[in-house]
Amino acid sequence: MTTKATNIHPVFDRIIGRDEKEQFLNQKACVVWMTGLSGSGKTTIAIGLEKELQKRGFLTQILDGDNIRTGINKNLGFSEEDRTENIRRIAEVSKLFVNCGIITINCFVSPTLEIRKQAKDIIGEDFREIYVNASYEECEKRDVKGLYKKARNGEIKNFTGLDAPFEAPENPFLEIKTSDMTPEQSVEEVVNAILPQLIKN
Ligand code: PPS
Ligand code: MG
Repeated sequence: MTTKATNIHPVFDRIIGRDEKEQFLNQKACVVWMTGLSGSGKTTIAIGLEKELQKRGFLTQILDGDNIRTGINKNLGFSEEDRTENIRRIAEVSKLFVNCGIITINCFVSPTLEIRKQAKDIIGEDFREIYVNASYEECEKRDVKGLYKKARNGEIKNFTGLDAPFEAPENPFLEIKTSDMTPEQSVEEVVNAILPQLIKN
């Protein structure tokens, strides 16, 4: 997206940099980006991951679609355009956290390759994509929030996996098949994969 405003003069020098903030926190920041169908386990894994990282002294921030959509993105729905704007803003917010040295744990359906490419382009090399993989049938069986039933009854339009697309990541940093393991096992696998990334040299 191009910048609308003119006559702006961003300041990048004289501001305390990311490196100094990471030293202060004794950690290396990144964005753990979880993508997957509604009810696939993104939030559960994020909460477990945050707890495990906190125990080890890391500072984190969870950004979760269900929460963000009641605040900064409360004016957005689930059209392709709104989802794209949702993810663009979140990627920018994540970059702010990362520049502050904070590990950001994101839970967004972020359903298409293009939408996630947008996030990756904004965030850059700190983007760690985790595919939280559970089939539509499995998520519908769980139906923790009752959304699948509503979607089936036509009460929710543009529901991901039903009348809106979900495209699986092609080359994720990690894939977790949540139907084959317990939440604790899923968390453990993510922790093991992410931990080495967070160690400040
Ligand atoms: S997106 O596609 O990344 O912009 O979506 P996101 O911001 O992650 O929001 C997903 C949560 O919104 C609820 N919800 C829906 N999800 C998908 N499709 C439709 N139509 C929809 N309507 C509401 C749902 O609670 C999602 O949360 P999770 O945790 O993924 O189940
Ligand atoms: Mg969730």
